[in-house]
Amino acid sequence: MDRIEIDGGIQLKGKIKISGSKNASLPILAATLLTDKKLQISNIPELADIHSMISLLRSLNTKIEFSKNCCLIKSNKPDSLNVSYDLVRKMRASFLILGPLLTRYGYAEVSMPGGCAIGTRPVDIHLDGFEKMGAKFKIENGYVKGKVAGKLKGNIVKLKKISVGATENLMMAATLADGITIIKNAAKEPEIIDLANFLNKIGADIKGYGTSEIIIKGKKKLEDCKFKIMPDRIEAGTFVLMVFGCSGKVILENINDNVSDHLIKIFSPLKNLKLEKKNNGEKLYVEKIRKKNVNLKVSTREYPGFPTDLQAQLTASLIKSKGKSEIKENIFENRFMHVSELKRMGADLTLEGSKILINGVKDIYGAEVMATDLRASSCLIIAGLMAKGKTIINRVYHLDRGYENIEKKLQNCGIKIIRVNR
Ligand code: EPZ
Repeated sequence: MDRIEIDGGIQLKGKIKISGSKNASLPILAATLLTDKKLQISNIPELADIHSMISLLRSLNTKIEFSKNCCLIKSNKPDSLNVSYDLVRKMRASFLILGPLLTRYGYAEVSMPGGCAIGTRPVDIHLDGFEKMGAKFKIENGYVKGKVAGKLKGNIVKLKKISVGATENLMMAATLADGITIIKNAAKEPEIIDLANFLNKIGADIKGYGTSEIIIKGKKKLEDCKFKIMPDRIEAGTFVLMVFGCSGKVILENINDNVSDHLIKIFSPLKNLKLEKKNNGEKLYVEKIRKKNVNLKVSTREYPGFPTDLQAQLTASLIKSKGKSEIKENIFENRFMHVSELKRMGADLTLEGSKILINGVKDIYGAEVMATDLRASSCLIIAGLMAKGKTIINRVYHLDRGYENIEKKLQNCGIKIIRVNR
């Protein structure tokens, strides 16, 4: 298993090209099942999760060529509508093919996604919504078996809790349903807007996306298109927090005005961080300025609040800031696995229920640590950059799920980081 070795204490200086968004690419790849026309999708990041989704689509008779971050795709009628446990267990986002299969073919057998390090992650909101549209389910041998008599029917579906995946799954299903579907209490993440833009580009009729009420008018069939995936706001935010943690100045490239505005807004409480838009927001200048006490209180929220996917990285970036901070995790019940690893490096952290209390320390020290999930692995890189001495991060397959070429991007900013195959 690969591991990453980092020599700490070096400031980040240079330019970083941000990759396409993993969390926009995955639902959009699932959505390609909705049409049998040729599709060209660019700016797709080269990540383990993307390869998992491509393998899954190929198992459903979709022809996909993937090179230079671009996918040429042609979906054909699958020989079997059973998606194996082995493919689904690797990645929860595989569950996003349920909506497209149900609405296109009226049947699907998808393995129940298991929980993961950050929480149990049920799918009840997805299934409730599909049932309101006429699907019937039974759970057998760890599989969700869904059936529709005829076509899914448009309906009003109020999500009992804001869910990104359920909003995406139901929006995709509604594009080919009979009649109009209204999703209430919908998630508003930028990745949902990107998915809706893709769906409308292949002929769907979706309005209200990006708000809590999305209206979808079902169509008989969908067409072809060329589409470019939005930039990855979580990758970009991770690099901003690296600069905050270990100082320096970088320019983030290949982003857009919406992502720049979002990052400037969520990081506005970090007063000793300078963020400046360049080239109409396509670039973002990031610099750590004067050191002053930091006493932060941050709660993770659904969009446009502070993203849960940056919580671990924010925790790490604050461990050497003079002062006391508090981060409350409101989205996932167990997104705290990184806390114990950071404490092994000398961080002064206390877990109180779903709150992480951070007491700034002068120094932390390199250690051999273990990544437990995708965002925890990037938080350990931040801690490794801030530490005195060498940090060794094991189980970096977690990192490879969501960060494209991260070592190369950091080496280009003067960081001593290498990947060692063991
Ligand atoms: C998406 O996961 C993202 N993944 C996650 O990013 C992100 O953390 C999450 O949204 C929240 O923003 C992708 O887009 C591929 P949810 P998703 O459904 O859709 C509960 C990363 O690091 N819930 O919005 O699975 C759930 O348990 C990943 O890139 C139910 O109770 O998240 C959680 O507590 C991690 N029942 C909350 O809702 C359901 O049916 C939010 O989950 C569905 C969800």
